[in-house]
Amino acid sequence: MRRCRIGILTGGGDCAGLNPAIKWVVKTALDRRLALERDTRYEVIGIRNGWRGLINVDPEGADIDKYIVPLDEEKVRTWDRYGGTNLGTSRTNPYDPNDDCSKRVIRNIEQLGIEALVVIGGEDTLGVAQKLSHEGVNIIGIPKTIDKDLPGTDYTLGFETALDVIVEAVDRLRTTAGSHERIFVVETMGRQSGWLALEGGESCGAFLILIPEYDFSIEKVNELLLEGRKSGTRYGIIIMAEGAKPIGGTEIVRDETVDGFGHKKLGGVGEFLAGEIHSGTGLETRSIVLSHLQRGGAPCAYDRRMGRYFGIAAVDLIVGEDFGKIVSLRKNEITAIPIEDALGRLNLVDVDTQYDVERYNGRRTILRRCG
Ligand code: F6P
Repeated sequence: MRRCRIGILTGGGDCAGLNPAIKWVVKTALDRRLALERDTRYEVIGIRNGWRGLINVDPEGADIDKYIVPLDEEKVRTWDRYGGTNLGTSRTNPYDPNDDCSKRVIRNIEQLGIEALVVIGGEDTLGVAQKLSHEGVNIIGIPKTIDKDLPGTDYTLGFETALDVIVEAVDRLRTTAGSHERIFVVETMGRQSGWLALEGGESCGAFLILIPEYDFSIEKVNELLLEGRKSGTRYGIIIMAEGAKPIGGTEIVRDETVDGFGHKKLGGVGEFLAGEIHSGTGLETRSIVLSHLQRGGAPCAYDRRMGRYFGIAAVDLIVGEDFGKIVSLRKNEITAIPIEDALGRLNLVDVDTQYDVERYNGRRTILRRCG
């Protein structure tokens, strides 16, 4: 029987759904019944801390366990219940123009005997995967990011769990906001795409939703809030993405330092808006940043299931030697697309059909288009 070693890593920001995907890659690859059908015995090794692990590992070194972990069914048996990634992650870029380590990564992949590499990541991690694929590495990608901003797939792991966090947080905020008749501005993640804010806001019934795809007018926010007060609303919840900005303004940056992929850390627009609301309307306003809480916690049922399906599909592609692809969800079906189709542009909210620019909220017509 042929033997084949699969490597697996998680890169970029963690989220719920990564561990279920790892578990199902391992279980599907090691399945004894399928091994007979495929006439191949697969083995899976986990690479710790994303690309950084593949840069730092010495395949012949005594400390290899720091970077490589053999995975079997017993080891991953309970992983689908847990958030984050048990393999660890990093935002390290092997193609960093100031310190290009890509050759070392390719050499280490070869020396570790990895014949297929499963890469679970978002735009940045999959961008590296695409370059390695062009250099001859057998890559399969699994899409993840709570921002749900990758094109070519209707779902990215972690998104639904993050929505649950937003809804739970807002349910808690409502009682205190109502008791004090306050406005609460809730800042979600979402650098360039407003999916978390939009669908989180729709799920929890937010009064206003502000997204990066549509610059907001501070005056209009204040008008809408005052109108709400006049018509009897005692308090208000505003959900806004960290990348949302006022007309004529720029994104608010928490920290000017950049990661290996050139991203600055956003944050603080909620606090800024709370100040503008208070000074413009006199309404007592507080802000809260949900930040990394959205990435934490156990995966919801959907992320466990999607992690499972994506993991199984990734192994199907390996068995078919159909490399250079990422698994994807399209129209409720699991499929596969070339890695490049999930890169190069972002999947943003379509303001014309999915956002109500008059109410600063979700759409109010779904089956009927109207002006
Ligand atoms: O990339 C996903 C994301 O959730 C962004 O929305 C956010 O800006 C970023 O991660 C923050 O990640 P970190 O603090 O881990 O760099």
